[in-house]
This record gives sequence, structure tokens and C-alpha cells, in this order.
Amino acid sequence: GKGGYDHYMLKEIFEQPEAIRNAIRGRIDKDRGTAILSGLGLSPRELVDFQRLLIVGCGTSLNAGLVGEYAVESFAAMLAEVEQAAEFRYRNPIVGSKDLVIAISQSGETADTLAAVREAIDKGALVAGLVNVVGSTIAREAGRGIYLHAGPEISVASTKAFTCQVSVLLLVALKLARGRRMSRDEGVKITREILGIPALVQQVLEKNDAIAKIANNFIKCEHMFYIGRGYMYPVALEGALKMKEISYIHAEAYNAAELKHGPIALLDGNMPVVALMNRGPGQEKTVGNVEECRARKAPVLGVITEGDEEAKVACDWTIEVPDCPHYIATIVCTVALQLFSYHVARLRGCSIDQPRNLAKSVTVE
Ligand code: M6R
Repeated sequence: GKGGYDHYMLKEIFEQPEAIRNAIRGRIDKDRGTAILSGLGLSPRELVDFQRLLIVGCGTSLNAGLVGEYAVESFAAMLAEVEQAAEFRYRNPIVGSKDLVIAISQSGETADTLAAVREAIDKGALVAGLVNVVGSTIAREAGRGIYLHAGPEISVASTKAFTCQVSVLLLVALKLARGRRMSRDEGVKITREILGIPALVQQVLEKNDAIAKIANNFIKCEHMFYIGRGYMYPVALEGALKMKEISYIHAEAYNAAELKHGPIALLDGNMPVVALMNRGPGQEKTVGNVEECRARKAPVLGVITEGDEEAKVACDWTIEVPDCPHYIATIVCTVALQLFSYHVARLRGCSIDQPRNLAKSVTVE
């Protein structure tokens, strides 16, 4: 059942500290500052030999993949790409024996992702699944992979799967990096940060009431913008996807740097902007973009680092999140935005666990 919560979605949001603990359990070697991912079935030699990591998925799993791409590039300095699974399949993908393909899917049954797995296997790539549902088709066909251990996700809107996927992708990035360029000390530091994720998520969950109050200001909206840069760009995408899916508000995500290349024309007093402004690379630039939004009268909800007064004064409302590196903040800020969309949808009286036109797993193309 819903364990006392009004909706499965809220229950699953609150399960995240535990789900992430389960996803990373037994997969961290603290002393050597690396990850243990035996499900990948790759020898140390194979781990350094392949030249490119290709990540495929759809929807929320695709957004998680984007975080994975950034993390692999920045930790391991190796080539990583993420592709929408259907695109991958229909574009005569350049993929072969020098590639590791990771297919991300909560359900393990998504038709487009499964087709991409088959295609990649046909072309001779090493294929691994990052799947939640044990024994699902993608898990079986990939043959190797990492289970999320997030527990069953009932709500159509994916929440804990995303934060577990990102947690495990950080471990993948760490593993690849430690086999290549990353020092043990740096690895140890990152393992500590990853182990700290559940506690940080818990701190965000404690803001639930405050976030519910802020949500009251957004129930009449027809449109919204979400902006972020770097690691915060996939967070903007995921935040906007969740908002569209459960509240039926048209929410668009843009890289903050893209605003002035067109979309800023849409901004006025009726176009609220949700901005990922927490401390980290590119933050000042995003704050600058927020000032441009305010100059066009767009109301701004900023996700900011606790105690960051400078960012706070640039916003109409703020959700404060604990200070952490941006690759960890992808999870922390996403949880804040999950709660935000949940409360907006609840206040609008939407059918949260079963949004119109959607199914939990998309087994047709
Ligand atoms: O089961 P999968 O992870 O393969 O599902 C992929 C998407 O259909 C899924 O993430 C969808 O976007 C969610 N409803 C988003 O909340």
C-alpha cells in the first residue's frame, strides 16, 4: 500500500534515502576510493580498453543518462555520449566492439530501449543494463548489468529510479576514472561524497512543508520555464518533465545559456522561471540570467544553496538545498523539484499516480 502517504509518488519520493542506500550498498570500496560493479563483468583490461561509453534510455532514464555522460567525461576524461534510445536505433548508429553501451530503464521493458540494446548487441558492442526490475527483458537480453535495487516504483512519474540511476552512474564514472586518470585520494573523496547522498536527500525531504507552501503560487500557471547549466541542465529537464507529466502545466527546460538565443522572447509576468542557482560551476552566469528574467517581470523560483543571500535576493521564492558538489546536487536538487511538482499537481487536483495518457512502462514504439 501507500504506507500512510496520499500517493505512491510521495511515498516513493520519501523512500529515496533508503533506496539510494540500497543502490550503492556493497558497491563502494572506501579504502581504494573506487566502485565495485561486478555485474558489469568487465576485467580491468576491458575497463580501460573500450574507447567510448554510450548511454541510451528514454524519459527520466534519459535525463539520468545525461548526468552520467557529464560525470564520465569529467571524472574519467573519456568519451561519453547519451542518446535517446529510439534515435539511436534509427540513425545507423556508429557503434562497435570498442564501445560499452549502458541501457538505462527502470522497468526494463521500454520498447525503444530494448530495441537499442538489440541493435548494439548486433553491432558487437559490450552492452550492460542499468535496470530496476529484476528479470525484466532488458536485464535478460543485455546479459550483464547493474540492478538498481530501488524497490518497486508504482507511480507513473519516476522519482526514486532517477536518483538511484544517477547514484549508480556516479559509481560507473568513478570506476572508469580510477582505471584511467583519477588518483586514489580523489577517488576516496568521491566515495565519501556518494556515501553522503542519502543524508543530503533527507535534508531536502525535511523542506516538504516549505515547498508545499511555495507551490501555492504556481497552481494557476499555464507555462513555466526551467533553466540550469552544466550538471544542472539535466536537472532542469527532469524537473520540467515531472511538472508536465503530473500537473499538465507546460514546462520547458532550457540550458540557461540558450535563453538569449530565442526563448527569452516568451518571458513576461505570466511566465514563471524555475532556476537552478545552487553554488557550483556556472552559478554566477545563471544568476545573471535570472536577473535578465526578472527584468522582463518573470517571477523566479530559485533552487539555491543554503544561506546564499546573494542568490536569494535575485529570486521571488527560494528552495534552499545543502551545499554539495554539482554532480551530487543533481540528486539533491531533483528531489526538491519532485516535491515541488508533486504539490503543484496535488493543489490542482490532478491524478498524480496515474496521469492522463500515460502508462508506467511504454512497451510500444
Ligand atoms: O522504465 P523506463 O525507465 O525505461 O521508462 C522510461 C520512460 O518511459 C519513463 O522514465 C517516463 O519518462 C516516466 N514516466 C517519467 O516520469
